[in-house]
Amino acid sequence: MRTDTGQIVHLADYRPTDFVLERVDLTFELDPTNTKVDARLIFHRREGVDLSAPLVLDGDELTLSGLLLDQNEVPAAQYDVTPESLTIRDLPAESPFEITVTTYINPEANSQLMGLYRTNGIYCTQCEAEGFRRISYFPDRPDVLAPYTITIIGDKAANPVMLSNGNFLGGAGYDEGRAFAAWFDPHPKPSYLFALVAGDLGVVEDTFVTMSEREVTLKIYVEHGKEARAAYAMDALKRSMKWDEERFGREYDLDIFMIVAVSDFNMGAMENKGLNVFNDKYVLADPEIATDQDYANIEAIIAHEYFHNWTGNRITCRDWFQLCLKEGLTVYRDHEFSADQRSRAVKRIAEVRHLKSEQFPEDAGPLAHPVRPTKYREINNFYTTTVYEKGSEVTRMIATLLGRDDFKAGMDLYFERHDGQAVTVEDFVKSFEDASGRDLTQFSLWYHQAGTPLVTVSSDYDQASGTFKLSLEQMIPATPGQTAKEPMHIPLSFALILDNGSPAVPTKVAGGEVTGDVLHLTERRQSFTFTGVSSRPVLSLNRSFSAPINLHLDQTPADLAHIARHDTDLFARWQALTDLALPNLMHAARDARDGKEITCDPSFVAALLEAAGDETLEPAFRAQALTLPSEADIARELGGNNDPDAIHAGRDAILSEIAKAGTKTFLRLFEDMKVDGAFTPDAASAGKRSLRNTALSYLTYAEGTPARAAAAFASADNMTDLAQALAVLAHRFPDAPETTNALATFLARFDGNALVVDKWFSTQATIPGAGALARVRALMENPRFIATNPNRVRSLIGTFAFGNPTGFNRADGEGYRFLAEQILAIDPRNPQLAARILTSMRSWRSLEPQRADHARAALTTIEQTPTLSTDVRDIVERMLK
Ligand code: ARG
Ligand code: ZN
Repeated sequence: MRTDTGQIVHLADYRPTDFVLERVDLTFELDPTNTKVDARLIFHRREGVDLSAPLVLDGDELTLSGLLLDQNEVPAAQYDVTPESLTIRDLPAESPFEITVTTYINPEANSQLMGLYRTNGIYCTQCEAEGFRRISYFPDRPDVLAPYTITIIGDKAANPVMLSNGNFLGGAGYDEGRAFAAWFDPHPKPSYLFALVAGDLGVVEDTFVTMSEREVTLKIYVEHGKEARAAYAMDALKRSMKWDEERFGREYDLDIFMIVAVSDFNMGAMENKGLNVFNDKYVLADPEIATDQDYANIEAIIAHEYFHNWTGNRITCRDWFQLCLKEGLTVYRDHEFSADQRSRAVKRIAEVRHLKSEQFPEDAGPLAHPVRPTKYREINNFYTTTVYEKGSEVTRMIATLLGRDDFKAGMDLYFERHDGQAVTVEDFVKSFEDASGRDLTQFSLWYHQAGTPLVTVSSDYDQASGTFKLSLEQMIPATPGQTAKEPMHIPLSFALILDNGSPAVPTKVAGGEVTGDVLHLTERRQSFTFTGVSSRPVLSLNRSFSAPINLHLDQTPADLAHIARHDTDLFARWQALTDLALPNLMHAARDARDGKEITCDPSFVAALLEAAGDETLEPAFRAQALTLPSEADIARELGGNNDPDAIHAGRDAILSEIAKAGTKTFLRLFEDMKVDGAFTPDAASAGKRSLRNTALSYLTYAEGTPARAAAAFASADNMTDLAQALAVLAHRFPDAPETTNALATFLARFDGNALVVDKWFSTQATIPGAGALARVRALMENPRFIATNPNRVRSLIGTFAFGNPTGFNRADGEGYRFLAEQILAIDPRNPQLAARILTSMRSWRSLEPQRADHARAALTTIEQTPTLSTDVRDIVERMLK
């Protein structure tokens, strides 16, 4: 393991390389424990670079076994080498020269899953961000682009499949028992997009005809016997390819596009040029093993990685500070894709729920950083929800500010100007400025200022003059390293809704810019006055969540109920129901803590049940409306001194109230939403299942027995219903014999299918209450729990820490001590995984003092361990700062 070197990388120190890489030629002689890598690299000195400048190549845990310069051995005096770098001096002044580096690496021993490693007998690579340097000494940075030729030599019987980027050149027998395959990728790319896969895999094939009538071969590689489970991923891929042509004018650019599913993977998936590598969780699906959520995730991630071909690969990042240039933009693209494939409003609600529960806490805690950071110690720790999801929201705001046509013109200009380049966020923004003529200087602060802006709004209506006045104030909270903030350009979509539900159409507006239904808040304090408003309107603000902000808008429950009933923006209707729910949930948490009786505003319950029963609304929306803000959401709203047990108890009491008041509605929905016939994963059927299962959950609150859920479990004919029934049983009646039976039945039925057993782990890891920890510890002893497999670790330990507020935040601090122990065990094997799971403690400072003390102590134990990886050291030190 590479332990911490403590070096911080600064954006301000960026400078181009001294040598330009022209071509890369790699030969791999595969061996499970001793793979030989020959890297032939053609360079030339960049114009104007001093003759004394050496060539410095990056490495990570490498040993050099051979070094040639133009085919001649380099004398020892001409270079310096360590496991982390290779420096060669006295290189030719002008002519290109060839460096050949030979290294031997051990894929079998690579437990970090970065570089070349083995998973289930398959050779596989992961190079983003800095994994290529674990394969060979190389200028391993995203602004070094070259075409690659790859030759793979390997045992013929063990490796019938040998893949790399680009187009297949050929392959054949080699010598006794060995075979070779050669690939060429003509598109210049950085090393982080390199990939190699070899082994014995099954394949599903299809074709796609592009907009210019080129036929592209599509292949998805999976374990033998699982081919049928790749059908949905293939379908999603073809829909993604079509959509990117229609919506963004982007055509695929190689003869073949391949996806490989592997079972040991640190993240979701990786967009290597022409050869995407996926966590098998995001490829494999059929009705028996995959939930509707699994299907939706597969669709989104297949699209995401495919879309990277243009936003990431053809146009890549100049340096890793620009990560949001590809990730934020590509998330925006996959969000739009899913919105077009499914219900836009429901998709938006899910995005905002995710943003608020994951990104807002990050932005409000010790790990807060700008979408475009200016320094990092470990780049792997910046694959964050701020870079991805807030980065996507920033792109969405550009689209909102510019409008559809100018946004499209800006994207087109970006593709035209920067194809084949490694660029910056500034280049991206400039394309939109040039295409639209709009100045985005102030807007760009969204990239540079961390923290979720708080916008406080008050309104005033004057009947006599028919004017409606809106006063807004923005405040951006201090974040680590950024105390003083400038006011931002915040686009707020709005409507003024009249008594009869129709929108007011003001004749005039003063005080600032309004374009269409978007109000541009640009000052710290700003008032907008609307004239020609004949009666008092209800303000609906930040519709569709046009800006990722916290909004304080004092609205009466009656006004919120009016929006929930009348807004033409479905998202705003959901938002209004949430705004009605939150004060009740916060109140309930306080009352639970004080041992008081918990009450609930009947008008809130009425509004909720009205939406639930409204047949004009799609079922998926009604299910979202009925799903209360999570315990984490309530904690965030409460802001500090949090007691997770009280939040849970309060929320539970409110759920019971709703269940009692709505029993009739829920009984009807449970019957009406039954989906007949064979399972299909389409959004409409998924929506009905979702509403039915939500009703089931409420009914168990009303009925207080596991009977209905046990019956639902017994009669389920698809994984969505089965897993939901199991979760209701386990979470509501953990000790009932029905639950014990269901858990045993589930395991027996799916034993051997690791992805489904993960659901069995995570369902139990999220059973609320202090008993959860003992359960998790016992499950770790289960032979199906494999400590080296990231999916197993995430589904049990990760889910417990991230998704079980009462179990993890036990008042005695045992949950934190457990996590510290696990982090220290995982870190030496897989630092990225350890660091990611540790971020589950990012909100520890908002706990009540006793728990916060326990949390600090656990973090301190980690911090004081001398052998931490850079990844974990970086996270733990920022969290304690
Ligand atoms: N680029 C990949 C994606 O599509 C993720 C890579 C994550 N890499 C890492 N070192 N965490 O999102
Ligand atoms: Zn991505």
